[in-house]
Amino acid sequence: MKASIHFAISALAALTAGQTPSPPPCDRPCLETLVSDYLTALIAHDPSRLPLAPDVKYVENSQIVPLGTGEWHVATSLGRYRHIFSDPENGQVGAITTLTENGVGIIYVVRLKREAASGLISEIESQITRDAGGFALYENMSVPESVWLQPVAVEDRIPRAKLISQTDKYYAGMERNDPRGNYSFFDRDCNRLEDGLQTTNQKNNASYGHSNDTAFASLGCEAQFQTGFLGFVTRVRDRRYAVVDEERQAVLAMTIFDHNGTVRELPSVNGTSNPIPPYFDVPRTLAASEAFRLRGEEGKLWRIEMTLTEVPYGQRTAFDAGETHDLSGRGTNRSTSAPCDRACLDTLLDNVLAAMLRNDTTSLPLAKGVRYSENGQFLALGDGLWETLQHAAKPGVDDYAARFADPSTQTAGYWGLTREQSTPGVLALRITLANGQISEIEALSVRAEGTGARGGTVTLMRPPLPVEWVGDSLGALDAVFKTNSTGGAVIPPSVVLTAYFNGLEQHSSADVPFTPSCTRRDMGRQLRMACGAQMDGQGTTPNGLFNSTGVVRDRRVLVADASKGVAMVVAMVDYPARVSGTVPRTQMVPSTYMIPQLIKMDNGTISRVEGMIKWMPFGYTSAWAEGKSNSTRLRLH
Ligand SMILES: *[C@@H]1O[C@H](CO)[C@@H](O)[C@H](O)[C@H]1NC(C)=O
Ligand SMILES: *[C@@H]1O[C@H](CO)[C@@H](O)[C@H](O)[C@H]1NC(C)=O
Ligand SMILES: *[C@@H]1O[C@H](CO)[C@@H](O)[C@H](O)[C@H]1NC(C)=O
Ligand SMILES: *[C@@H]1O[C@H](CO)[C@@H](O)[C@H](O)[C@H]1NC(C)=O
Ligand SMILES: *[C@@H]1O[C@H](CO)[C@@H](O)[C@H](O)[C@H]1NC(C)=O
Ligand SMILES: *[C@@H]1O[C@H](CO)[C@@H](O)[C@H](O)[C@H]1NC(C)=O
Ligand SMILES: *[C@@H]1O[C@H](CO)[C@@H](O)[C@H](O)[C@H]1NC(C)=O
Ligand SMILES: *[C@@H]1O[C@H](CO)[C@@H](O)[C@H](O)[C@H]1NC(C)=O
Ligand SMILES: *[C@@H]1O[C@H](CO)[C@@H](O)[C@H](O)[C@H]1NC(C)=O
Ligand SMILES: *[C@@H]1O[C@H](CO)[C@@H](O)[C@H](O)[C@H]1NC(C)=O
Ligand SMILES: *[C@@H]1O[C@H](CO)[C@@H](O)[C@H](O)[C@H]1NC(C)=O
Ligand SMILES: *[C@@H]1O[C@H](CO)[C@@H](O)[C@H](O)[C@H]1NC(C)=O
Repeated sequence: MKASIHFAISALAALTAGQTPSPPPCDRPCLETLVSDYLTALIAHDPSRLPLAPDVKYVENSQIVPLGTGEWHVATSLGRYRHIFSDPENGQVGAITTLTENGVGIIYVVRLKREAASGLISEIESQITRDAGGFALYENMSVPESVWLQPVAVEDRIPRAKLISQTDKYYAGMERNDPRGNYSFFDRDCNRLEDGLQTTNQKNNASYGHSNDTAFASLGCEAQFQTGFLGFVTRVRDRRYAVVDEERQAVLAMTIFDHNGTVRELPSVNGTSNPIPPYFDVPRTLAASEAFRLRGEEGKLWRIEMTLTEVPYGQRTAFDAGETHDLSGRGTNRSTSAPCDRACLDTLLDNVLAAMLRNDTTSLPLAKGVRYSENGQFLALGDGLWETLQHAAKPGVDDYAARFADPSTQTAGYWGLTREQSTPGVLALRITLANGQISEIEALSVRAEGTGARGGTVTLMRPPLPVEWVGDSLGALDAVFKTNSTGGAVIPPSVVLTAYFNGLEQHSSADVPFTPSCTRRDMGRQLRMACGAQMDGQGTTPNGLFNSTGVVRDRRVLVADASKGVAMVVAMVDYPARVSGTVPRTQMVPSTYMIPQLIKMDNGTISRVEGMIKWMPFGYTSAWAEGKSNSTRLRLH
């Protein structure tokens, strides 16, 4: 009552001064209502019901996408579980909750930022964990454990800054988890949930995560950290403590876990030792939204509720965490001849691959500020594939490998079979030179993903692909990609970038110059039908992409080799999952497919296509396309 009278007076004062009055402050019930309204609008597929700031930023699984797309098309009903964290002081509210998406259960985390001055929502950050098992666990629980919701008397609370610094100790301890660390910041009674599953003090002999270890989950929080088991998390970066619920002594944090793939053994737990699961053969990044309940005057971690989903390795945060990542290379004093001709480009490409296999750039002619990217994310030289690549097929020696060169743009490309530990992949590599030094190295790596024991090597939480890579080999790369073209030694970019990708977007080959006998392989699998019929979506077998894929954006020619008549290209294809067609419901997940392709052209027509498909979160954009803002902006579906 007092507050509202005070508000009325200050609003009056503001009006007198000719200003817009500020809305009343939003307390816990007000913030909880905001979350309810948000979720109701989400399943109604109607963002216009919300009080939105004009420049509201909407993020889904770390991707900035237009509000109203993605989950806004597929969320069907609300689940029972709802755990809300309120931070009235900062106008922040977060929730860990459950939904169904095209009828399939998911864990959904959302954070809303409400501007005090306008009362409008300026940030919407969501994380979708597509784990139907986790959904079921949460639905059974139905409400958060009561300890989370108990208010703590003002005199018994530890202040905001300490809530944050105590929580940060958790991440500092997990990063490269040192068994000799001091983990006394855990409460003796600490327990943790991971995607709805309790993973501490378990008595059911369940194995932990992707591993076969059945002892880890039997330990308490502190004892777990004392094993060093979590050392396969090599970095916990971009830590944000966005929602601090002081009254309940809780923190909702958003962080990014990198697993760079170099850790090869899990330490012994209760005398049992395990090899690292094959899932960690390759670099992986997980985005985590994680809540902490602290207790006592020392602010020990008492409860942890974590949810996570996989994003591409090195994924940048969509919201600034105040960390700087300098990802431009230092360069070397070496250089090569400028301009570098075809033979020179071929040699340099081989040298780059050899340097990656050795994780040693010192012998390369690198420009100051050289940039390296992997699957669209900039990384430091020496990170990612530089640490995990163990084999790359050799052009002219191995079946599945080819080199491409374009001396006119000082660009060279490689396409070949690779191996990281036991995991095969296809690497599409581009290097670009400026003044005899390499200024850009771009790697696209599509790995074989198998559904083996303990979750196999499939990207966590991704739906099945239209065409999966089956087995280890892809057979031989067609000889037409390795040999010079018989005629028409030009590659009109208009054909590839416009006609071919437009055809893919419109599911129509009408304007695509395919030779009648053109064949196409996706993930090493070839259909009997010709390229045109396949693009038109004839037949009932997988046609490379779903019939209902949408916009084909971020279209780029990586290398155009005029002698070979081959263009190595890549694009992002959005699959909004709005129309089911013949697609099962578990595949009805908003997605973006990154599709590196080799396109062979003879006399101006396309005669062969070799394509790979990598699943990306919906709306994924390559770092190389950012900045060319108009080409990267998602169109509404
Ligand atoms: C949920 O509870 C029901 C009834 O107790 C039980 O049958 C089911 O197995 C539980 N599901 C999960 C995922 O725990
Ligand atoms: C561990 O840290 C706590 C809190 O900072 C401190 O009181 C304790 O002495 C430390 N233990 C050791 C063994 O260093
Ligand atoms: C736990 O399960 C594993 C594998 O299923 C088994 O080898 C082990 O003996 C079990 N341990 C206990 C304590 O039951
Ligand atoms: C692992 O060791 C701890 C502590 O000694 C014990 O409480 C727990 O039961 C053990 N777990 C298994 C699966 O043996
Ligand atoms: C886990 O156990 C399964 C089945 O026993 C086995 O195939 C797999 O290789 C094991 N994984 C690891 C990482 O030990
Ligand atoms: C490159 O050359 C400059 C000037 O000669 C020298 O100062 C610098 O140390 C050299 N850098 C490396 C990495 O060799
Ligand atoms: C790879 O090289 C980078 C950069 O020099 C270095 O930081 C990293 O530790 C190296 N990794 C391995 C496994 O040698
Ligand atoms: C990868 O992780 C290992 C183990 O923590 C570390 O030694 C190495 O420096 C990391 N690599 C990079 C590039 O940070
Ligand atoms: C391309 O045109 C040349 C000259 O007209 C012809 O010899 C060659 O067979 C053609 N190539 C294909 C694949 O049609
Ligand atoms: C694609 O669409 C065509 C025409 O609507 C239909 O005949 C075909 O079955 C669809 N193919 C797939 C794989 O959904
Ligand atoms: C292919 O063409 C290039 C020049 O465009 C030439 O240097 C190379 O020798 C040719 N390769 C073969 C196998 O004919
Ligand atoms: C990009 O979009 C903006 C506004 O949407 C427009 O003003 C600008 O002209 C566009 N630039 C290009 C190169 O198309």
